[in-house]
Amino acid sequence: MYEMKQEYLTGIELIDEEHKKIFEIAESAYQLLHNELLPDKYDHISLILNELRDYTKKHFADEEAYMESINYKRMFTQKIQHQKFIEKLEEFDMDSIDENQDAAILDILNFLADWLIEHILENDKRIGEE
Ligand SMILES: [Fe+2]
Repeated sequence: MYEMKQEYLTGIELIDEEHKKIFEIAESAYQLLHNELLPDKYDHISLILNELRDYTKKHFADEEAYMESINYKRMFTQKIQHQKFIEKLEEFDMDSIDENQDAAILDILNFLADWLIEHILENDKRIGEE
């Protein structure tokens, strides 16, 4: 369902590899949503969210370092967007997640997929055009 596509490529190998990994995390959330054999998904949701938080932080740091290395002029806009994404991720609260687990996974997925795809297409691809 969620995977890296040709149209998302920025042409910068490290960034593309890291975006691919984020799509893999999204895919694992999607698989979890559709897993009917698991009565309690709480621990799995928590693991995925933690992985997503850790990995996006690493990715943003790498991407920002790359932008800095080429003196990218839109870096400030990028940094603000990255920061907002991290803040939003911190807002997912594990207590409310327990009440309706599938709805929580769906929320995370929708947010992640919408943000990621739009951000890559609107912003990250421009870095590769510099
Ligand atoms: Fe970015």
